[in-house]
Amino acid sequence: MEIKPEDYGLSGNGSKLRINLENGNKINKCNWKTSGVVVLRKWIAGGVCQCSVRLDGKTVLVTGANTGIGKETCRDLAGRGARVVMACRDLIRAERAAEEIRQSTGNGNVVIRHLDLASVYSVSQFAKDFLDSEDRLDILVNNAGVMMCPRWITEDGFETQMAVNHLGHFLLTNLLLPMLKSSAPSRVINVSSIAHQGGRIDFDDLFFSNRPYSALESYRQSKLANVLFTRELARRLKDGNAHQSER
Ligand SMILES: NC(=O)c1ccc[n+]([C@@H]2O[C@H](COP(=O)([O-])OP(=O)(O)OC[C@H]3O[C@@H](n4cnc5c(N)ncnc54)[C@H](OP(=O)(O)O)[C@@H]3O)[C@@H](O)[C@H]2O)c1
Repeated sequence: MEIKPEDYGLSGNGSKLRINLENGNKINKCNWKTSGVVVLRKWIAGGVCQCSVRLDGKTVLVTGANTGIGKETCRDLAGRGARVVMACRDLIRAERAAEEIRQSTGNGNVVIRHLDLASVYSVSQFAKDFLDSEDRLDILVNNAGVMMCPRWITEDGFETQMAVNHLGHFLLTNLLLPMLKSSAPSRVINVSSIAHQGGRIDFDDLFFSNRPYSALESYRQSKLANVLFTRELARRLKDGNAHQSER
């Protein structure tokens, strides 16, 4: 990937940089130390979606939607007219976030549903209820994630980062595939991380049962699983109209 200063609101050369702020103002005569921090922050944060395509009549489902990237994704999609289903494990926090999004976008078609990706039962129940009560699914954003937690084991006996970041989303996507296909052209977005680049999947010991647990190795493994899942799903669906993206 080539990183261009212009992509990050930077211009100028030599030891002086000009930073173009999103509000239209500019900061001149910035030294390398300051600009280096700005570039690093912007690079870690990644690109900003500038899409303004209207989504009226579309239904989107976002996991881990009560905070962080998931919440801001919901805000953007709601602002563009979509029906937004926020799938969260804490319904009180979810409703607080949903109400804030309804208020800030003027879109009342923002609803919450309970989903705990660490539980196969919860994912199955969620998918059943969703398929029973929703008419369509145009965009599925598999966003929820746990990062660098201790070695916690889920009720199904899985290591938590692998369970939540990959296995829960893998099951959810597969259970919702019939509706994604019937709503085609549809899209699945799996939120991975640059951390996948250092990842290695140990297929004989996915849950760190026989090797010392490393929170970072586990996170990287789960994020690499996101990427591999995305690619394989895209390969299997390439003749249909359901598209996959990894972010
Ligand atoms: N932030 C970054 O710099 C960064 C960089 C690269 C990739 N990412 C990826 O981006 C995604 C979102 O990250 P973020 O920074 O927005 O994280 P965040 O603010 O911590 O949000 C994570 C979301 O996932 C939810 N979640 C956690 N466990 C869950 C479970 N068992 N079932 C359902 N939902 C669950 C959380 O719910 P609670 O609020 O209830 O805990 C929360 O809503 C993650 O997949 C992460 O790996 C983030």
